[in-house]
Amino acid sequence: MCGIVGYIGGRSAWPIIVKGLQRLEYRGYDSAGVAVINDGGLLVRKCKGKVADLVQMVKGQDLSGSVGIGHTRWATHGVPNDVNAHPHTSMNGKFVVVHNGIIENYREIKARLVEKGYSFKSQTDTEVLANLIESFYLNEKLTAEQAVKAALRRVIGAYGLGIICTDEPGILIAARKGSPIAIGVAQGEYFLASDATPIVEYTDQLIYLDDEQVAVLSSDGYTISNLNDVHVDPVITHVDFDADNIDKGGFDHYMLKEIHEQPQSIADTMRGRVQSETHTINLGGIADAMPRLASARRIIVVACGTSFHAGLVGEYLFEQFARIPVEVEYASEFRYRDPIINDDDVIIAISQSGETADTLAAIRMAHEKGALVLGVCNVVGSSIARETDAGIYTHAGPEIGVASTKAFTSQVVVLAMMAFALGRRRGNIDEATYASLIDGLVAIPSLIAQVLDSEPQIREVSRAYQLAQNAIYLGRGYLYPVALEGALKLKEISYVHAEGYPAAEMKHGPIALIDNCMPVFVLATHDKFYDKIVNNIQEVKARRGQVVAIVTKGDCEISKMADYVIEIPECDDALLPLVAVVPLQLISYYVAVMRGCNVDQPRNLAKSVTVE
Ligand code: G6P
Repeated sequence: MCGIVGYIGGRSAWPIIVKGLQRLEYRGYDSAGVAVINDGGLLVRKCKGKVADLVQMVKGQDLSGSVGIGHTRWATHGVPNDVNAHPHTSMNGKFVVVHNGIIENYREIKARLVEKGYSFKSQTDTEVLANLIESFYLNEKLTAEQAVKAALRRVIGAYGLGIICTDEPGILIAARKGSPIAIGVAQGEYFLASDATPIVEYTDQLIYLDDEQVAVLSSDGYTISNLNDVHVDPVITHVDFDADNIDKGGFDHYMLKEIHEQPQSIADTMRGRVQSETHTINLGGIADAMPRLASARRIIVVACGTSFHAGLVGEYLFEQFARIPVEVEYASEFRYRDPIINDDDVIIAISQSGETADTLAAIRMAHEKGALVLGVCNVVGSSIARETDAGIYTHAGPEIGVASTKAFTSQVVVLAMMAFALGRRRGNIDEATYASLIDGLVAIPSLIAQVLDSEPQIREVSRAYQLAQNAIYLGRGYLYPVALEGALKLKEISYVHAEGYPAAEMKHGPIALIDNCMPVFVLATHDKFYDKIVNNIQEVKARRGQVVAIVTKGDCEISKMADYVIEIPECDDALLPLVAVVPLQLISYYVAVMRGCNVDQPRNLAKSVTVE
């Protein structure tokens, strides 16, 4: 996690860095810092708290200088405080480093440096790296670039780095292994950042560093080489990214904006892929992989967090329509349990950021075992997108709110497109059913817009439960993963303990928790489980639980039992998750706002989890 930004060129670095850090705060926000070099020498400013606290701290200070680096942190080593905040300066003040990742062998390196007389101010692995670089630089009389490479050859772990050297103030060094680094190329100036968002307003020419590559940037040009000094020809990617997309667009929070963007983001996910007139689905990104996917013996979905819940919806979709057995695995469990993977298995990695460390490690392992690996990612050019054999971008646009909303629905749309196309290809779906499923998909944006029209009512329901300490979410079939996702959303941003359960499992434990203080959110639409879920609602009411039911528009039965009902429009069972999740997203949003929580930056979380 953590976000890093760097600049070198003709302008003042500080305003560019601070704006970039604000855009990267979704990656971590427990402390922030900046370092610039100007005629007066090196200036380092850092503090506990958010980027806004840093801005407040340096108010009125001269931070001019046209080379600099900045950092916004999600703590791994050392508590969040001023001292542990990045940048970290080496003991003799030669090198200043910002780092995203973990240096795993930092203890032994530190012990060796202590023997050589180095002392340390912080508890971080990054300060160890800064001193290791400096010790090579001073003891072996290397250039800054050579010293960085020498140090990186010794470290085990992950890094995305921005480094400046006070003896060589005309260069900015970037390096990557495991943690992403994007470099923006413009006329006489270069930008570096953990992702494209801080860069896109200055240039659309980007280079994504690969593992063990080091870039040396100066206002005269740049070079990229690997740790063994072999020159690398850069691949410049043109990014089509609208900087307006990363503003709040008049909403109070990114999360609310992103919930409201779903009709559009889902349409973008389908654009060019779903043809409603001809009733066809064309998935260009996996066209070459389709024969192998269609004959897969098994599909294994690997993901984390909300993406895992999208994967669970995918399991229902693939099994119903493609009739291929599916397993859905938390990437962190999958990678460490020596799973059985055959070369006729297909792995689908789902990740909004495309950088989640466990998911990335899982696909590397699957590759080694010979499986075909497909990616469903949102961030274009991300590590998972690049390391998979083929994939489908969700094209949901930048998701800044830490709690994932529009990424989830776009992931489910991608999985639905895949399942329907596979089902048709494998002969499990007849033409008429296929056409009707495609019509159903195309209608989803307008159905979500209808749910969003109920926002004032959903806000009032949220008000009724804003003080709840616990909540249970129940769903069956396609709506069971939605129950899990609703509970996760509430936990993440409201800090309310919430459990998602398959409704029928309630009587095997959670029912013991139900009393008149327990809100139970029940997904109770007109699907094949309707009668069963009505029974579940009665079981809750019999124990004086509070029931909020998400029902199909026009339902008159459940409103007689439930404390509140929220209506959603009717649609095919397989597409219900896309519509039913929206009221749950809004409930968690409003409960969090009413409880005074920081919706976009919930405590202890980060959007992009690049540590395992
Ligand atoms: C973090 C985020 C979640 C996200 C999960 C997986 O926990 O806070 O919103 O679902 O990581 O991230 P990915 O980028 O792989 O989808």
